[in-house]
Amino acid sequence: MTDFLVKRDDLRECRVVESEPPAPEPGQALLRVDSFGLTANNVTYAVMGEAMSYWDFFPAEHGWGRVPMWGFAEVERSEAEGVDPGTRLFGYLPPSSHLLVTPADADGTGFVDASPHRAALPSAYHRYLATGSDPFYSTDSEAIQMLLRPLFFTSFLIDDQLDDEGLTGRGPIAIASASSKTAIAAAFLLARREGVELIGLTSAGNAGFVEGLGIYDRTVAYDAIGELERGPAAFVDMAGDGAVRQAVHAHFGDELVHSMAVGVTHWEDLGAGAGDLPGPKPAFFFAPDRVSKRAKDWGRAGLETRVAESWRPFCEWTAGWLEPVPGSGFDAVESAYKDVLEGRVAPRQAHVLSL
Ligand SMILES: NC(=O)c1ccc[n+]([C@@H]2O[C@H](COP(=O)([O-])OP(=O)(O)OC[C@H]3O[C@@H](n4cnc5c(N)ncnc54)[C@H](OP(=O)(O)O)[C@@H]3O)[C@@H](O)[C@H]2O)c1
Repeated sequence: MTDFLVKRDDLRECRVVESEPPAPEPGQALLRVDSFGLTANNVTYAVMGEAMSYWDFFPAEHGWGRVPMWGFAEVERSEAEGVDPGTRLFGYLPPSSHLLVTPADADGTGFVDASPHRAALPSAYHRYLATGSDPFYSTDSEAIQMLLRPLFFTSFLIDDQLDDEGLTGRGPIAIASASSKTAIAAAFLLARREGVELIGLTSAGNAGFVEGLGIYDRTVAYDAIGELERGPAAFVDMAGDGAVRQAVHAHFGDELVHSMAVGVTHWEDLGAGAGDLPGPKPAFFFAPDRVSKRAKDWGRAGLETRVAESWRPFCEWTAGWLEPVPGSGFDAVESAYKDVLEGRVAPRQAHVLSL
């Protein structure tokens, strides 16, 4: 068994560890991790590893962590009822060659990992979906699913919340880190709504790419935020760059109708500029809260159906520009991880890896 480990208190340090794969005991199954996607979102799992318990999903030796990924795995051995060897699954995986799980609620759609160490963690991450009955699945879009499916779910919820709270009709919506996959998916969905004006805020080097996507009404480089027209506007901050947040808040001031804090791509900049911001206090976007609300409103199946229906056109559109970059083995995973950590990945590209 191979594990890719990251040092919890120095995310730039990583190493590989080899061991014997565990043998499943009665009630357990051993999954062989096939491949997983790696984007800034996974770095956020590491950055928030302690604060939001992301290190606890896939425990590692003291001081080290396995950064959670999304990807595909196959049941290699099973001592669990209703879980057949060979079943292909989509779910939350460690950057490892194998994962031991304790399946519960197993049926044709997959199962939930009921391993005791995961019991207190958010249930949204526990489900392993059998590809055979998954409405999102198609064999020819596996890379896009690994890379974008969890991000798309967040983007769906962001688009839904902005509309639900009447924020799509109160001036333009400015999205920072407009070239990130999560921003692109949110913009794709928002652009389909009547009368929504989208401003893509991005770094100068990514402005051409953002413009070329054709989903933002305007692309504005971070250093030109001061040139935007003043008036009511909403702000969706994907990356947590303190200087960008400060510039947007200072520019729109009290006319900012909402400030949504989604991500921390700028992981060395946590908390910068907080405390003395003009305008509304940034509201942290917490996906599980919106999932609970919409699962109550629409039923869990109703929510899944809506997400799956809007996923298909996005998936088709994305296939026209996204370039998955495959890699396998420790060196490839390490190099991709470091490139994402340091912001060296071109926005058109994204890593699909295996150990
Ligand atoms: N709260 C939630 O539930 C949730 C869920 C999903 C994602 N997110 C967050 O959304 C953000 C985007 O995730 P993603 O996976 O979609 O990202 P991604 O596509 O990998 O993002 C790449 C973009 O981020 C910016 N960037 C990347 N590294 C950087 C660095 N070191 N310094 C400065 N800028 C950097 C660049 O955009 P620009 O040039 O355009 O700035 C780059 O094009 C992450 O922070 C993630 O945690 C949050």
